[in-house]
Amino acid sequence: MKVDEATNAQRLKREVPLLVVLHGANLNLLGERPAEHYGTLTLPELEELIRREAEDKGFRCRFHQTNHEGEFIELLHASRSAAAVIVNPGAWTHYSYAIRDALELVGGRVAEVHLSGIEHREHWRARSVIREVVDLSVSGEGPEGYLRAIRELDLLVREGSM
Ligand code: DQA
Repeated sequence: MKVDEATNAQRLKREVPLLVVLHGANLNLLGERPAEHYGTLTLPELEELIRREAEDKGFRCRFHQTNHEGEFIELLHASRSAAAVIVNPGAWTHYSYAIRDALELVGGRVAEVHLSGIEHREHWRARSVIREVVDLSVSGEGPEGYLRAIRELDLLVREGSM
């Protein structure tokens, strides 16, 4: 990389707000999971939709998926200074106080998104232990839920920088 390109890349990093999207347990198998709850898109297809909306709103985007709770927590630690974070922790949503505590340390705006309507499924799924530490919760809207979360996070991030 030439000096000019390097300086440009650094400026971009400083000026373009970062959106981190973290997918938790079992979301790598989207497309194979029950379609009545999770639809038919694969994770790469879902991420492509998210990236388009995020870039349209002026975010740069980073995606991670893990099936390991400790790694999810470390990814949250590493996202503490991102402008915005979207989490879908999968089943950890319903019981992980460790993820809840890690979310409290994130400085940017945070949205919790679930593809399925967690309130309308099994009793144990209706409870989200992270709901009270995020700025916004979306569930039951399928992939569109992520896009709505991005639009709302964009407004919150702009509000914060005015
Ligand atoms: C989910 C809902 C959770 O209950 C489930 O364990 C998941 C996905 C959703 O996106 O609807 O893995 O978070």
